[in-house]
Amino acid sequence: MDRRQFLGALTGLSVGSLLPSRLAFPAIRTSKSMRGPVAKGPVIVCSRGKEWGEKVTRPGYEILTHGGHLLDAVEKSANVVELDPEDVSVGYGGIPNEDGVVQLDASIMDGPTHNCGAVAALEGIKTPCSVARRVMERTDHIMLVGKGAQRFAVMHGFKIENLLTEKARLLWLKWKENLSDKDDWFPAPEGVDYNQKRITGTINVFGLDAKGDLAGITTTSGLGFKIPGRVGDSPIIGAGLYVDNEVGAAGATGRGEEVIRTLGSFYVVQLMREGKSPNEACKLACERIVEINKRNGVPIDFNDKFIALNKKGEVGCYSILGSKERPPRVAWMDDKGFHVYEGGYLIERKK
Ligand code: GLY
Repeated sequence: MDRRQFLGALTGLSVGSLLPSRLAFPAIRTSKSMRGPVAKGPVIVCSRGKEWGEKVTRPGYEILTHGGHLLDAVEKSANVVELDPEDVSVGYGGIPNEDGVVQLDASIMDGPTHNCGAVAALEGIKTPCSVARRVMERTDHIMLVGKGAQRFAVMHGFKIENLLTEKARLLWLKWKENLSDKDDWFPAPEGVDYNQKRITGTINVFGLDAKGDLAGITTTSGLGFKIPGRVGDSPIIGAGLYVDNEVGAAGATGRGEEVIRTLGSFYVVQLMREGKSPNEACKLACERIVEINKRNGVPIDFNDKFIALNKKGEVGCYSILGSKERPPRVAWMDDKGFHVYEGGYLIERKK
């Protein structure tokens, strides 16, 4: 039996049979207000609102409802944002690192087999989640980084391209010109907002097919203007993404360092395994981050958001910061059409 067959056999066992009976799906009651909506039929979920949600979920949903493969569905949906130069937080057009170079991170996880693949600090390839899928399917490894990941992508027919769009280059230049008043760069022209927040983005995409199998992807260009080589949570299995076919899927967006520190997505799935609803599990993961930072006297001036989908199709999301105008959102497409759900948040975002 090779490693993958072993994992396949392992995941074929019910989780209940692996846990002491006391821990196997204890009946925890969830207050009505923390129950999320339940998607019906095959479903594609993503961590965006209306603007991107429909564009992203549709191609994956079409694949799922026309007899296509679950992994093709989540990949095609995630590729929509990766290939769109208008989005400055994922794939082509993403904000570069401090040297002006776009470095991308992505991961993919297949529920039924527990197989996963990831790439980090990948340069020049527009669709990092597709490379992550090749790592999962065509190697015995889980993560490739930097030059090695790029060489591997080229071997599989991916083209090296310039990922830095004019829009992203100008945003980077403004940032560079205003780093310090003691360097040799002139300040950017009047009217430019130098104090704009560091740009973060990322997208999580999950699929649940008619058989009840789950898969997920997280893909990002990471923290804007990051130190070259910085890797966030998105390609780290258990941090930016986790899928367990017996329980559900979870993914994170926002400040990746906090999500790595808490292994956030694994924590959310583990909480759902113990009986929490997706909303409750996402809320508890946010609370854990806040609690750790508060204990260390770190101000909560950053955001993290979790989205989750359980095996029954129940959807949830929660963030640390939010407001009435900008609550955390999760979108999905199912038998009943396209939907957006607004989750809760812990702390009111300052205007
Ligand atoms: N959550 C994306 C990142 O921190 O890179």
